[in-house]
Amino acid sequence: MDSDSPHTATTGNIRYAITLTIVAAAGGLLFGYDTAVISGAIGFLRSYFGLDAAQTGWAASSALVGCILGAAVAGEISDRQGRKAALIVSAILYFVSAVWSGLPSTLTEFAIARMIGGVGVGIASIVSPLYIAEIAPARLRGTLVSYNQMAIVLGILGVYFVNYYVAGIGNEEWNINYGWRWMFVSEAFPALLFFVMLMFIPESPRFLAQRGRNEASFALLARINGEQQATEELQVIRDTIAHEGDSALQLLKPGLRKVLVIGIGLAILQQITGINVFMYYAPEIFKQLGSGTDVALLQTVVVGACNVLFTLVAIRMVDRWGRRPLMIMGTTGMAISLTGLGTAAYYGSTQVWVLGFILGYIASFAMSVGPVVWVILSEIFPTKIRGRAMSVATLLLWASNYLISQTFPMINENPWLVQVFHHAFPFRLYALFCLVLIAMIVFLVPETKGRTLEEIEKSWTRA
Ligand code: BGC
Repeated sequence: MDSDSPHTATTGNIRYAITLTIVAAAGGLLFGYDTAVISGAIGFLRSYFGLDAAQTGWAASSALVGCILGAAVAGEISDRQGRKAALIVSAILYFVSAVWSGLPSTLTEFAIARMIGGVGVGIASIVSPLYIAEIAPARLRGTLVSYNQMAIVLGILGVYFVNYYVAGIGNEEWNINYGWRWMFVSEAFPALLFFVMLMFIPESPRFLAQRGRNEASFALLARINGEQQATEELQVIRDTIAHEGDSALQLLKPGLRKVLVIGIGLAILQQITGINVFMYYAPEIFKQLGSGTDVALLQTVVVGACNVLFTLVAIRMVDRWGRRPLMIMGTTGMAISLTGLGTAAYYGSTQVWVLGFILGYIASFAMSVGPVVWVILSEIFPTKIRGRAMSVATLLLWASNYLISQTFPMINENPWLVQVFHHAFPFRLYALFCLVLIAMIVFLVPETKGRTLEEIEKSWTRA
């Protein structure tokens, strides 16, 4: 994979770095596609398999169990076999799962097929940003890494369109028997494309150096950054590798304990404030409020578009306003929207209000908690343990996602809760977690805008 822009020994070739970023970010696109495809299918799956609330939760969240597994093995595969190899494994898993998820005749078979794709998502959720960070020139690292979040939300929007299109092909009966199958199978095409594109990218310079292939590493770094910069970068990489043996138990030392609490806290709170209830169940929520299938899927497309639009805002603002102001504003918006939504659900309010609150929530999340949590996770941990610490945080992020997605239908339909709260309970609960998140940002999370990774690292050990 080459780029036709000229590259000189002094300036390097940014276009080449961007091309590699796009290929790696296709892993993020499939992460969005694979996790959100369920939203269009879940109602039909429910009728086809005759599912109760707990089984519906399981149908929606079984893939997430795979994600937890994928996040657990991603570090191992990418350190032993390479980043490229890990991404190839994830592309294969995406493909196999896409085809198989279209074939099952039992819920268990469906759940297994979905879990396989989940492992691919879990791997890509760590290795795509890792690969991008490792090939990116330092001054562009934040921006290029946030392309990955952009890819995730584009994947989500893409599959919302596909779901809407597929559901329009036949009537309700056709959709219950076949429509949902095509929704899953459609993912085979982007998965195949991802696989093919991966054949053309090199291993990351970091991995090459780790394997003692310093010349190859230097050649790639020089191609991207120019020779002078490459010499410096390779030196930093080799210093870091020399310290790699240091134990992850260092994270439990007093100075670093705080950074661990912040990383893990942000990962968990990104999920338990409810985002994926909307990403995975939006059409069901709209139907519960009186929309027909068609309209519900169209409203979901609007949700996906709003998500993309406000992610653009975050990408522009994250290095100007800083992480803290964005996060505080966004989380406040989420809390207000959820409170409004809870009240609307309590009084059985009209759809216009509900759509407004949902869009307000999505916009607030997309311009803050969505991308910024991933940015902070990639920059607050000390270099020596960054990979392992990120894996722990990402694993807990997926586990929290599983918890929320599995339990949403169960608490939303629990007869006692419905009698007391009229479907408002889940939204009230997520609003409460937003308050916890705001407190955490105000009292614990430092501003990292404009600081080098080394400066951030020193601030922890000094503390
Ligand atoms: C979250 C995903 C979520 C997506 C929605 C990401 O930052 O990690 O769980 O589905 O944003 O845009």
